Amino acid sequence: MTQLDTAATLPTVEETQAFGRRLAGALRAGDLVVLTGPLGAGKTALAQGIGAGLGVAGSITSPTFVIARVHRPDPARGGRLPMVHVDAYRLGMVKDPRAEVDDLDLDADVDDSVTVVEWGEGLVEQLSDAYLEVRISRHDDDTREVRLHGHGGDWPQRLA
Ligand SMILES: Nc1ncnc2c1ncn2[C@@H]1O[C@H](COP(=O)(O)OP(=O)(O)OP(=O)(O)O)[C@@H](O)[C@H]1O
Ligand SMILES: [Mg+2]
Repeated sequence: MTQLDTAATLPTVEETQAFGRRLAGALRAGDLVVLTGPLGAGKTALAQGIGAGLGVAGSITSPTFVIARVHRPDPARGGRLPMVHVDAYRLGMVKDPRAEVDDLDLDADVDDSVTVVEWGEGLVEQLSDAYLEVRISRHDDDTREVRLHGHGGDWPQRLA
């Protein structure tokens, strides 16, 4: 696995995507990744990088009118795991986004997928299960700062 820093400065959208690609190397089936940050922080850009790193098919965009999309692994890109991309802005406050996504009957099992949720500020405290929080903040000069916080499960060891 590529070395993963728990904090990084991301000057450009390309570097935000590259950070997502590196992060994907640490992900496995059943993982929940919660991307937090204000509007336009770069959550979708980072999700695009994760999708590229996981080798999934289909372009990752802001799901404005859908709650979640499944991106199948593309064997030609070395893909092994589906990625479920969720815009939790429309999901509201929930204890476990994976349970909500399961209820959507998406034809994807969250236990066999990596679930990436775009979440607004201040909602992550609601979450009860193990997850990786990726917090993106925006500086005045338009660069981004990303910080990883592992919650529960074996995240603390995996990020060590
Ligand atoms: N360092 C950077 N990292 C990420 N995005 C950047 C950066 N610098 C500029 N940008 C721009 O900021 C925007 C980020 O948009 P993006 O859709 O990824 O944000 P978002 O957090 O998903 O927004 P939303 O809250 O609407 O879902 C893009 O237009 C991107 O080009
Ligand atoms: Mg977005």
